[in-house]
Amino acid sequence: MIQNIALVGCGNVGTALLEILNEKRTELSEKHGFIFRVTLISDLMKGTVLDPEGLDLNQIVIDLKEGKNLDSFPKGQGSFGELLAKSRTTMMAEATPTNLKTGEPGITHIRAALSRGIHVTTTNKGPVALAFDELATLAKSCGAKFRYEGVVMSGTPLLHMLQYGMAGCTVLKLEGILNGTTNFILSKMGETGVSYAEALEEAASLGYAEADPTGDVEGWDAAAKVSILAKLLFGKNIPVSDIDRQGITCITPEKIKAAHEHGCTVKLIAGINATNGEFYTYVTPKEISLSHPLASINGPTNAVSILTDNLGEVTLIGPGAGRIETGQALLTDLIAMRKN
Ligand code: HSE
Repeated sequence: MIQNIALVGCGNVGTALLEILNEKRTELSEKHGFIFRVTLISDLMKGTVLDPEGLDLNQIVIDLKEGKNLDSFPKGQGSFGELLAKSRTTMMAEATPTNLKTGEPGITHIRAALSRGIHVTTTNKGPVALAFDELATLAKSCGAKFRYEGVVMSGTPLLHMLQYGMAGCTVLKLEGILNGTTNFILSKMGETGVSYAEALEEAASLGYAEADPTGDVEGWDAAAKVSILAKLLFGKNIPVSDIDRQGITCITPEKIKAAHEHGCTVKLIAGINATNGEFYTYVTPKEISLSHPLASINGPTNAVSILTDNLGEVTLIGPGAGRIETGQALLTDLIAMRKN
């Protein structure tokens, strides 16, 4: 069956997905039986285009690379629900910016798709952190799949690993680096002594930071990821605001230098501790020994160690942010969800 893909949000990550789909069309078909056309793209800035027979993906990728909007393609008109119907969408990739206060516009897009039986993958943390129960129930009742691999560790398959690779294993504790932007900033300040502001500017220009980077540097982004993992692993609803959270805005190159002088470095550490009958969730900058495995995790790379009953400790290291890396998360989900 040919999948009709809708992309909502055509910024860094959405554009990366289109590039990957365009480049790997033959391989996806031959290796995974994944045959698709992109029938709808909707972006607040670049426009809404629609063709139920498939948009000219190759030309769209060329135009987007040249910084153009989507003006030269067939325009889509109507409500969001009408656009999904007209484009005969079977799967939607939602990649609008995260809003951790309202979850919008992501929640509205995802609701509209799931309620029509359309499978959804999202990289948007807002809907998953704020409305998971509602969206998962809606998906189930409408016979649709709802996946969100890219919301934690971008395309590094942490959620797949936890849900399938470690199915049946009980997680006792989880700790690591879950925000690429802050890890990039701390690494830069430690390696080159650049100021916090300069490092943040570079992280934003490389596409690691959120549209509003306050979410990254004040620890909200990592806290949202902890909240999502608490739900996935322990079935607990821990609001992002209930997580013991501190960001990195108070960390200076001098503080990192002082830490180095006594054999340590500074990392923003996020975790869940469910041992000894407690359940503690946190995000905090920590001084860790230079010999600790997390000390060598630099740049936008993330790492998480998961303590389990049957496997002991399992550690996963990989990209935590980045346009292609997060686009890959959408692709992984699209392939996993394809309708037979
Ligand atoms: N801003 C996020 C980060 C993007 O830096 O980790 C990936 O979730």
